[in-house]
Amino acid sequence: MKVLITGGAGFIGSTIASAFAERGVTPVVLDSLVTGRAAFAAGKIFYTGDIGDGALLDQIFRDHPDIGVTVHCAALIVVPDSMTDPHRYYQVNLAKTLELAGHLVRNGADRMIFASTAGMYRPGPDLSVTEESGLEPQNPYTRSKMMAELLLADLCAAYGLRVVSLRYLNPIGADPRMRTGLQSSKPTHALGKMIESYELGVPFKITGVDWPTRDGTAIRDYIHVWDIARAFAEAAARFDAIVPPPARPGGPGGYQVINLGTGDGTTVRELADAFRGVVGDRFQAEEAPARPGDVVGAYVDPAKAHELLGWKPEYTIEDAIRHSLQWSARRRELDVV
Ligand SMILES: NC(=O)c1ccc[n+]([C@@H]2O[C@H](COP(=O)([O-])OP(=O)(O)OC[C@H]3O[C@@H](n4cnc5c(N)ncnc54)[C@H](O)[C@@H]3O)[C@@H](O)[C@H]2O)c1
Repeated sequence: MKVLITGGAGFIGSTIASAFAERGVTPVVLDSLVTGRAAFAAGKIFYTGDIGDGALLDQIFRDHPDIGVTVHCAALIVVPDSMTDPHRYYQVNLAKTLELAGHLVRNGADRMIFASTAGMYRPGPDLSVTEESGLEPQNPYTRSKMMAELLLADLCAAYGLRVVSLRYLNPIGADPRMRTGLQSSKPTHALGKMIESYELGVPFKITGVDWPTRDGTAIRDYIHVWDIARAFAEAAARFDAIVPPPARPGGPGGYQVINLGTGDGTTVRELADAFRGVVGDRFQAEEAPARPGDVVGAYVDPAKAHELLGWKPEYTIEDAIRHSLQWSARRRELDVV
């Protein structure tokens, strides 16, 4: 069997491609390289192009009639950019998802796993989210992902498409075998800032120590990207059990949402302590006031993923920090610019 991975030359899509390959499922990568890197698709079947290009999708399915499932990762993902240029975000994440879904249906490719975000939930008082939590997306990026889910669910009901939507929050780390990782040398999340502070030899600032969390610092659901990738591979392996085929040909398909997360999250202080545990006392952190726009954060209850996918995270936060640091050195060798 083969799997089509849109955005398969990006951070998460390339890791997913490696996870499938390790299970004997051949990845077919489709990526426009708008943010992806050709080096991340090296050695894989790779089509450079746009998910909205119907002729290209038809060609891919002619070339690979044994594609059994499509993993849809292609997207624009930078929240501040989505606020200054929402048109582009809705065009790529929403309109092109609609086009892609049409091309899949036309080609009889009825199984899709959608890379989505748990950032669309309104967290409960303890800051946890489940699949039942209310939806309250906070920015155009997150709204574009939520609207894409709504349109996919409608297409499922009408055209027999079947979709598993996997929602998660903050993937970190890199492929443990250092084939791929983050493209950017300056990730904006707290771990990226910690690596930067460590490399510059300046203290990391823990911004905000009065949040309603277990230690007063903000909380995120950092999760190793390989654990995320394993969940995609598992969802593909179990696809027909999770979303059974229509009872009659052409009948309505199904739509399932599954959250991926750690179940307790990591506070900024916990992350800083773990970082020091990995690199030693040369890393220092100091407290500072919260910055405008900072948010307390949330973490994901993964009970449904455990039940339906038999999945739970295997890597620790220390593993993810170690792999991020290794990748930071490795990306320079690979010249991932
Ligand atoms: N990184 C996160 O924190 C995070 C969290 C939750 C969900 N997600 C979702 O995971 C998915 C992958 O994210 P990522 O972090 O790997 O981002 P990324 O930018 O590394 O990967 C996205 C890939 O999509 C490609 N792409 C974009 N538009 C395209 C188009 N029109 N046609 C073909 N290819 C196109 C890019 O070139 C890139 O390789 C996204 O759908 C994102 O919404 C990411």
